[in-house]
Amino acid sequence: MSNHNASFPALRMRRTRASGWSRALFAENHLRPSDLIWPLFVTEGSNIEEPIASLPGVSRWSVDAIVGCARQARDAGIACIALFPNTQADRRSDDGREALNPDNLMCRAIRAIKDSVPDIGILTDVALDPYTAHGQDGLVDGEGYILNDETIDILVGQSLNQAAAGADIIAPSDMMDGRVGIIRAALEANGHQNVQIMAYAAKYASAFYGPFRDAVSSRGLLKGDKKTYQMDPANAEEALREVALDISEGADSVMVKPGLPYLDIIRAVKERFTIPVFAYQVSGEYAMIEAAAAVGAGERDALVLETLLAFKRAGCTGILSYHALHAARLIA
Ligand code: PBG
Repeated sequence: MSNHNASFPALRMRRTRASGWSRALFAENHLRPSDLIWPLFVTEGSNIEEPIASLPGVSRWSVDAIVGCARQARDAGIACIALFPNTQADRRSDDGREALNPDNLMCRAIRAIKDSVPDIGILTDVALDPYTAHGQDGLVDGEGYILNDETIDILVGQSLNQAAAGADIIAPSDMMDGRVGIIRAALEANGHQNVQIMAYAAKYASAFYGPFRDAVSSRGLLKGDKKTYQMDPANAEEALREVALDISEGADSVMVKPGLPYLDIIRAVKERFTIPVFAYQVSGEYAMIEAAAAVGAGERDALVLETLLAFKRAGCTGILSYHALHAARLIA
């Protein structure tokens, strides 16, 4: 046997991999149920579970039923859930004013969950797309441009509305400018000093959001795309500028979205800044794993756990994933 590596056989990298106990001992990263945030879709009615065709295994739940989901999540050790409303069609308008209604679907769901399952965190998106008749995240002018500054007032109102209902983490998700600082100031001025802000700091104009838009019924309404506000998938430096801004405006944590195609961004943010980073493994990523498992291209549980662990390895504090409950039960 010829050996040109001077350290072999003294050094064998396989030695620590040779048994289960040793692999466990040497594992550099771990996935825990409390690393997970579970996104849930809420819809009108009572005792309703409505499957979403493009998101197999994920449903919309009525307010009464979503409380049960929150309880299951809490019992599985999940730290936090994220709520998204499927606003009924006749409550959508060009200005998305339903976002300000203290009795809208979101607020009713938040209150119901806080009443019955007070010990789980609730994260809420701040953006207008589930409320607008055109499916864009902000107000739109005569030329179809999505307005930046004019949209802020309603987002502040939406944030205060959600915080008053009991939201724990406000997540401005429209990728427009100047949101975090103004929302932080409004929360402080209104007695919500312990309500956190998780900034969707680097959110890309991605092809992976399709099933989510089905879930909140905005896909059919949306004309055009979101490229004038969400980021260009070609860009990485720009993500660092976005994160720096959100930190300077008072974000408690930042998010990178989608997840797996942007692990390089997560790593770059972690290397540059000292702030907790979350990944959103989005609907299209979930659907991709389910599609692979359905045709036998991979084993579902293993695919789920490997992808979630990858986020931890990249440096994430936590992960939003539609697989959260399933994963939490697998690792419990
Ligand atoms: C809306 C929002 C989107 C997602 C989360 N918040 C869709 C979009 O930006 O069009 C996508 C999440 C997913 O695909 O799972 N502001």
